[in-house]
Amino acid sequence: MSIEVIPLAEADIPSAVDCLQKAFADDPYFCWAFDDPSKFNVQRNAASLGAHFRFGLNCGYPIYVAKVTRAASERKTERPITLPPGSVVGICWWSSPEVNPSKQTWSVWAQEWLLSFRQLMYNIRFAGRGGLNVQRYWIWKAMQTEAQKMQWTNPHGYYFCNMLGVSPQARGMGVGKRLMDVVMQRADEEGIPCYLESSKGAPNIAIYEKMGFELTGEIKCVDGEDICKLYCMIRKPKCKV
Ligand SMILES: CC(C)(COP(=O)(O)OP(=O)(O)OC[C@H]1O[C@@H](n2cnc3c(N)ncnc32)[C@H](O)[C@@H]1OP(=O)(O)O)[C@@H](O)C(=O)NCCC(=O)NCCS
Repeated sequence: MSIEVIPLAEADIPSAVDCLQKAFADDPYFCWAFDDPSKFNVQRNAASLGAHFRFGLNCGYPIYVAKVTRAASERKTERPITLPPGSVVGICWWSSPEVNPSKQTWSVWAQEWLLSFRQLMYNIRFAGRGGLNVQRYWIWKAMQTEAQKMQWTNPHGYYFCNMLGVSPQARGMGVGKRLMDVVMQRADEEGIPCYLESSKGAPNIAIYEKMGFELTGEIKCVDGEDICKLYCMIRKPKCKV
């Protein structure tokens, strides 16, 4: 399959949201946080993801999409991609390294307020959070903060891959690796480690190990008898400046 990996643009957001929703439909964290499928509101979820993408774009975070090119859709391949040219089949969102995560810049602070405001408006428009179990969301946030405090020991910070998703029909074709490579190469040039969390142990741990990540910890989110485990992985830079 021929695809191009390019920075996310505002116009790609709807297609990127659709790709991500499909990629994470069976994700263990997603199923734990949205624990009642009868309450799940796909439009509310799309609005929230779109707001997060706008937040990331306005903060200048490295966010890349894999798009089907015209040539790819016309080519007769073994596994033809039936999506129209320009469709997003993969998305990778990174946060840039922060030397002092507790000290925010004014612009990021302002963007966080804008994001909160948008979410508030969506809560009114969609009459709630679209099935998100808010208590579980805060359990996860608290555990994640604790895990990152323990594992983020590099004084220059980490490139944090907080979203990577490839459309089910485009998996195993190198799309995820190409998306990751863009920022991993930059991290290598800058001598900065990369960090990620995945709630899917298999096959993701093996996939990330192939990209140079090592398992460094686990996050256990407990809500009564329902537990969600996330695997933390770090990739050391290949060469230091
Ligand atoms: C995880 C995910 C992004 C990987 O994307 P992908 O495009 O399928 O991965 P790639 O084809 O680029 O494969 C990367 C490497 O992993 C290997 N790999 C791919 N699928 C594999 C599998 N099921 N088992 C073991 N290895 C696998 C590939 O062979 C490749 O190795 P190589 O470079 O040595 O050839 C994709 O499976 C996905 O979207 N999953 C659902 C959402 C998700 O879990 N996201 C991650 C949250 S942290």
